[in-house]
Amino acid sequence: MSKTLTIRRPDDWHLHLRDGDMLAAVLPETARHFGRAIIMPNLLPPVVTGADARAYLERIMAALPKSANFTPLMTLYLTEDTDPEDVAAAHDAGLIWAVKLYPAGATTNSASGVTDFDKVRPVLERMAEIGLTLCVHGEVTDPDVDIFDREAVFIDRVLDPLRRATPDLRVVMEHVTTKDGVDYIASADKNLAGTITTHHLVINRNHILAGGIRPHYYCLPVAKREVHRLALLEAATSGNPQFFLGTDSAPHIDPAKESGCGCAGCFTATNTVSVLAEVFEKAGALDKLEAFTSLNGAEFYQFPASDSTLTLTRGAPLTYPAKINSGDGPVTVFDPGFDLHWHVRVNP
Ligand code: NCD
Ligand code: ZN
Repeated sequence: MSKTLTIRRPDDWHLHLRDGDMLAAVLPETARHFGRAIIMPNLLPPVVTGADARAYLERIMAALPKSANFTPLMTLYLTEDTDPEDVAAAHDAGLIWAVKLYPAGATTNSASGVTDFDKVRPVLERMAEIGLTLCVHGEVTDPDVDIFDREAVFIDRVLDPLRRATPDLRVVMEHVTTKDGVDYIASADKNLAGTITTHHLVINRNHILAGGIRPHYYCLPVAKREVHRLALLEAATSGNPQFFLGTDSAPHIDPAKESGCGCAGCFTATNTVSVLAEVFEKAGALDKLEAFTSLNGAEFYQFPASDSTLTLTRGAPLTYPAKINSGDGPVTVFDPGFDLHWHVRVNP
């Protein structure tokens, strides 16, 4: 007997599309299954102004396959020089849907991020007034803080003080990787949500480091202990509307990952929906999949849920490419380490 499940078309509330040849290669992988995505602004140079976002949006639309049913939701990269008026104008124009806070040096292309949080206070206050969401990369960058503790320390030192100072600001703590993050989000009474990636529901730090170093599982924030993965799984499958999918699919060419100093990022766009179906099925929570992929994020960002659907059918193990080719080089597709049985059909 084949099992089927029909869900609203998912949205990806945290996605890296890059630019140029890489954009052209990875965009169809997301647009195939997803209806909308929050597009990360960490290009080189970053997407800082409304004009930058408009130009990037045009490049994305030019690369989008004609048949695609996909809307990119643009964001700005917050710097200490960001002009609150420019942010407000881009928001008024319907051009941007969030502003992204990277602590300086936290991750790939984050050198222009924030060091002195007092300098961005006027922007944050303006965002709170106009109801614009702040997306946060939640890790401190202090070299004295152990990399596995950086998320928990960020909550205490940065996120909680920031939210207390600007309680009306809507905040998404992105790619949560710890039980500390899950508990902090769940304890908030308003204006706080968290995205969870596909890969953090599958891997813990042993997958990266035990029995050989596996660069394609290295991302930031880095995967933590199993107890943290289990907390993420519980949050994702709980139906709590504060938790939703942000894949953080982040392509890098293989030579940049398989290197003496490899880049952070897992490329999951190609098989994310099937991986999630498998994960939710194993957790006995297939009935919560749609809330996580297609409802909770839309509600937080104040969009209607998609009016189109995907049908998932359980069948023989799925075949998918181990790599996709970009003009820049090959990009390895995330290997969850188990067979995928859920075949995805896009309904007309
Ligand atoms: C992202 C990238 O490559 O741009 N990498 C990652 O490991 N997630 C940056 C980010 O979101 O931290
Ligand atoms: Zn990211």
